[in-house]
Amino acid sequence: MIRLAVFLSILCGFITSCKKKTATISNVTANSENIRFSVPSNFPNAIYTFDSNEVTNLRFRLGKLLFYDPILSLDSSISCSSCHAQSHGFADHNIPLSKGVGGQFGKRNAPPIFNAAWMPTFFWDGRVHRLDDFSMGPITNPIEMSETSEHVIYKLNRNPYYRKQFKLAYNIDSVTELTLRKALSQYMALVISSNSKYDQFMAGKVNFSTSEQNGFALFKVNCSSCHLPPLFTDYTFRNNGIDSIYTDFGRAEYSKNNIDKGNFKVPTLRNVELTYPYMHDGRFFTLMDVINHYSGGIKKSSQLDTSINSNLQLSATEKKDLYKFLLTLTDYSMLSDTLISAPKNSIQPH
Ligand code: HEC
Ligand code: HEC
Repeated sequence: MIRLAVFLSILCGFITSCKKKTATISNVTANSENIRFSVPSNFPNAIYTFDSNEVTNLRFRLGKLLFYDPILSLDSSISCSSCHAQSHGFADHNIPLSKGVGGQFGKRNAPPIFNAAWMPTFFWDGRVHRLDDFSMGPITNPIEMSETSEHVIYKLNRNPYYRKQFKLAYNIDSVTELTLRKALSQYMALVISSNSKYDQFMAGKVNFSTSEQNGFALFKVNCSSCHLPPLFTDYTFRNNGIDSIYTDFGRAEYSKNNIDKGNFKVPTLRNVELTYPYMHDGRFFTLMDVINHYSGGIKKSSQLDTSINSNLQLSATEKKDLYKFLLTLTDYSMLSDTLISAPKNSIQPH
């Protein structure tokens, strides 16, 4: 059955009208009652272990409901999915800086949040270390969802449907902040992207075109030291020469250490075709802009990472090849997986 699901999702990647018979979250299958977490065969072990948050359908569905529900924001105008859209690899949609409650803009671009179970740190500066500790950050951020922990918990407890779902999922009589965080973690940790053309190629199931193969070779030499496969990031904090002077100090804003100035978390490149605009401030709109940055646009500074080749000059053909390779990282099965999509019936009124 799993094999069938994978096969169907590859097919669906190319035939958009194709109807899937089995819902998949890549390696997570839910064709029967039970949602399971399993590590894709080409991935390292996950960091999030589901200790004290064992995977169950009810918990997953509760987390998903919350992720898509604006009840978590002050004026019920914004949900997590407003800034993290499935169609864009759970990054923001088209805008450099995300818009929060009241139309306010933050200072950073919303990153994609699939494969969260493998992330050792969160945010561009890595200031959060555990997924379970994460979710109150955006909820209480004054320019994101602008809520308080007490008021969100009050609203959820006031809502009979949510009280019932929390009781069923976590066996508690009233909603707590801890269970809210855990439910959201469970949903995020089960959103896995591991079924791109690249993965199929590595598993020997499809071929790369000559252009994709050449692009892959260029990638291995120039990019993979930081965007390390299979997750396409090594989760370190580095400077890739987009500026020589920084107004956002990146990692140093958290560490308060000058050595980290202008260093940002290496972002994954899975689904990069759709996670535009790019970089921590969304300054580049197209992948070609990014490629032109790495080929001839690197700004030198004492912070520039030593593994960056600041003299790289790619030909027009090489740029196209690299671009074609980056497109192989799009995971159509995750992007169209209804199991992780917005629930059909939202809960109204709040
Ligand atoms: C107003 C837009 C907005 C909303 C709403 C929002 N986020 Fe985010 N999210 C961001 C931005 C911007 C960042 C990056 C901030 C930074 O690095 O300082 C981010 C970062 C993240 C990350 C870290 C990803 C990484 O690679 O480090 C996760 C996980 C995440 N958000 C989950 C959520 C969840 C869960 C919710 C709902 C409770 C949510 N977000 C609501 C904009 C938003
Ligand atoms: C020294 C490590 C390093 C190398 C080598 C490197 N990158 Fe990056 N890359 C980064 C960092 C760090 C960022 C985020 C920088 C920021 O936002 O300030 C980034 C961002 C990106 C982004 C934006 C992704 C997003 O979601 O915003 C793309 C695309 C990208 N790199 C592609 C490449 C390609 C293609 C190569 C090879 C030509 C490459 N990188 C080489 C470290 C590196």
